[in-house]
Amino acid sequence: MAYAAFRSIGAYVPEKILTNDDLSTMVDTTDEWITKRTGIKERHIAAKDEYTSDLGVKAAEKAIERSGVALGDIDMIITATISPDYFCMPSTATIISTKLGLKNVTAFDISAACTGFVYILSIAKAFIESGMKKNVLIIGAEKLSAITDYTDRGTCILFGDGAGAAMICATDDKSEAIIDVHTGADGEYADLLMTPNGGSGSTHDALDQEAGSCFMQMKGNETFKVAVRTLTKDVKEILAENNIASDDIIHFVPHQANYRIIKAVGDALKLREDQVVLTVGKFGNTSGASIPMAINDIYESGKLKSGELMLLDAFGGGLTWGSALVPFSPKN
Ligand code: ACO
Repeated sequence: MAYAAFRSIGAYVPEKILTNDDLSTMVDTTDEWITKRTGIKERHIAAKDEYTSDLGVKAAEKAIERSGVALGDIDMIITATISPDYFCMPSTATIISTKLGLKNVTAFDISAACTGFVYILSIAKAFIESGMKKNVLIIGAEKLSAITDYTDRGTCILFGDGAGAAMICATDDKSEAIIDVHTGADGEYADLLMTPNGGSGSTHDALDQEAGSCFMQMKGNETFKVAVRTLTKDVKEILAENNIASDDIIHFVPHQANYRIIKAVGDALKLREDQVVLTVGKFGNTSGASIPMAINDIYESGKLKSGELMLLDAFGGGLTWGSALVPFSPKN
């Protein structure tokens, strides 16, 4: 049987930085409020002519190079994004594949908001274990600034742009394999976090009159409570089902939405501070890109070593959630 190994990681953030102080000149907020309630200090914002696919390509190039996989051996690309280059089509994954110079790959996007990276990890794992694919490039890429309402202080302080990518490859060695991935969803909570217009439920009239309703809207406080409850339950379950203790986790890599959510889940698992990966302060919430960007952060700072076990967990619009137990398994 083929197993799926997490071989490499890469990430990219655009140059421009938007600080809390910058935001306090745009909406009624302060650095103190944002820092205390979210842990966010700054976020990166893509240039006008920089698309989600451009961010994804830069992250993917690093992941490909670090994996040692030849371009021609990549047989599938999946992108997780809620801010695709184009509404409906073509998919951002197909654009990325062409920009990378790839021909004849399976390429598609999935929409699972901030849980997107965990969802594409589970798809890559399933395709590889079934024997259908061997080298799957997964990319979380977001230009959230394009769907953020910069007059709404409840959301604009949270989101940033960026991308992260990983190469998932077939292996015969079970010790290298991704151990488990959980994914879940509950549409009962769909209205907590949504872009209410622009889809098949909109009329052209509504679109003309309410251009702003294509932006993200969130009931932040309710989302916060469901996030803590759902994530704590899910991570406890995945650890118990796989007989893994909190102490065995070297790196807990949660979706970077809010420091207080991360702290609550970390405390529920009795994790030490050095086990918890935190990038929310410098990148904000980059939705589907946040987990691979955080993994890349510990990789580039030399903290992530071969064989070390990561626990990923995520929560987002849909509502969706997911977790994964992933040993880092570079080829060399
Ligand atoms: N600056 C100053 N005051 C603010 C701001 C701001 N930026 N935003 C809200 N306030 C005010 C509110 O108006 C309210 O004032 P009131 O008491 O006078 O009515 C007060 O602060 C408290 O507001 P809450 O919404 O209750 O604040 P909360 O502590 O819940 O923090 C936040 C808001 C940061 C949005 C938090 O709820 C959160 O992080 N929620 C979860 C986000 C999340 O995880 N989303 C899922 C992933 S995102 C995705 O899938 C794309």
